[in-house]
Amino acid sequence: MKIVVQNLKTGKVFLADAPKPAVPDNGILVRTSASLISAGTDRAVVGLARKSTVGKALARPDLVRRVLRKVKNDGLWSAYKAVQNVIAEPKTLGYSLVGEVLAIGHRVEGVAVGDRVACAGAGHANHAEVAAIPSNLFVSVPQGVADEDAAYVTLGAIAMHGLRQANQQLGATVLVVGLGLVGQIMLQLCRAAGLKVIGLDLEEAKLDLARKNGVLIAAKPDDPGLAAKVAAATDGYGVDAVLLCAGSKDSGAPFEDVAGHCRDRARVVVVGDVKMDIPRNAYFKKELEILQSRSYGPGRYDPDYEERGRDYPIGYVRWTERRNMKAFMDLLASGALDMQVLTTHRFPVERAAEAYDLVIGKTPTFTVGIVLTYGPGEAEEYKPAPKARRKVPGKVGLGIIGAGNFAKGVLVPAMTGTGGFDVRGVVSARGLSAQAMKERIGAQYSDSDPGRVFDDADVDAVVIATRHDSHARYVV
Ligand SMILES: NC(=O)c1ccc[n+]([C@@H]2O[C@H](COP(=O)([O-])OP(=O)(O)OC[C@H]3O[C@@H](n4cnc5c(N)ncnc54)[C@H](O)[C@@H]3O)[C@@H](O)[C@H]2O)c1
Repeated sequence: MKIVVQNLKTGKVFLADAPKPAVPDNGILVRTSASLISAGTDRAVVGLARKSTVGKALARPDLVRRVLRKVKNDGLWSAYKAVQNVIAEPKTLGYSLVGEVLAIGHRVEGVAVGDRVACAGAGHANHAEVAAIPSNLFVSVPQGVADEDAAYVTLGAIAMHGLRQANQQLGATVLVVGLGLVGQIMLQLCRAAGLKVIGLDLEEAKLDLARKNGVLIAAKPDDPGLAAKVAAATDGYGVDAVLLCAGSKDSGAPFEDVAGHCRDRARVVVVGDVKMDIPRNAYFKKELEILQSRSYGPGRYDPDYEERGRDYPIGYVRWTERRNMKAFMDLLASGALDMQVLTTHRFPVERAAEAYDLVIGKTPTFTVGIVLTYGPGEAEEYKPAPKARRKVPGKVGLGIIGAGNFAKGVLVPAMTGTGGFDVRGVVSARGLSAQAMKERIGAQYSDSDPGRVFDDADVDAVVIATRHDSHARYVV
């Protein structure tokens, strides 16, 4: 199957071939029909990889600190190898898609092969023809909702969680700063929730789009008449909440700009990647409350929820990330939201690199929603090299199951370094990491099915380098 990846060394985005991922016990396999590029996040990710090594280091001092820690603990050579291993692996992109269920893991209920589902999750809902999605990261797509609109599911849940953090009541006025992809969805959600919206952006075209979608006032942040307009729209009190949906990594200026427009004790919710440089006096005087908005809501970054499918009781956590995804689908179905007006570009997945050129501004154009589309029918099977050569006589034919950091960085180099092994095949659940290792060490094939190495008559020994709790399944 085809999958969009980025080379972390060169920054190049390209379409790679990889085996289909395996069906997760606790998830489903989905054939993608459309996926959405997350403009702000993907611009940051793709842009970082395109920087020089020094540029990367300056942009991510946190990673530099991690590397230095590794040098101190494990030595320079080991740290160098670890960094090389990370850089050598192609990085998947995308985390919001819609498609049709191809297969269902044995621990999943309530879904059938052929159902349409909208899916979320970095590392899961990639721009790929086939994706493996854990049970808490997909929801059904209601009839009447177009695939292309359902592909917005993750961004919808992100905006929805931000709005919930603002905790505003019917009739309140909110200031949305940044009317890009997240900001425009936020505007529509606020309108659906009965809130009045004042929107700010630097680009006139974004302001125009917001005007078409019911914003009360749309202006640039430095509009000299803005303070008077905000006062007039809020009976002189100022806005009840601010939703910061702009990215501003290098400056905390948005915090300074918005304080003057807030009412006493308003809430400022940080959705965008904004430098947390907060002018103390302005925030103290009005006792403004600052809240972070983390991804799609509760459940995010909790492996028990996301990987192992444990839900939170609704009485304690009403709006989990999956319930936010479902609420977004329901609003699409009701007609309260319209994603068609936000889709500025569509590209077949084969032209993903062009789409990313738009995202990083290489091709300057007005962009909001960029959707990748996928051809109909079964995703083409990954075709390994037509004829794997026979094992080199005198060497041990090796099969590797699991292509994680330890296998890549320690185990496999140590074994192949002896010169006594001929690596036949590499298997990993997600397929892509097996394919990357296969290419690096010159194995004969990669797959997501462990049966492939067990059935290979030229395999004399199998290395099982998956998580500990899965070893017995392969050994017994
Ligand atoms: N909280 C989360 O979990 C989460 C999830 C996804 C995205 N994000 C972040 O949200 C931000 C927005 O993402 P997006 O996809 O909408 O990006 P986008 O590029 O589509 O939109 C950003 C918009 O902000 C505008 N802008 C920039 N600086 C501004 C300023 N000072 N005042 C007013 N407008 C300004 C830009 O003109 C642009 O229209 C990014 O920083 C992204 O990383 C956060």
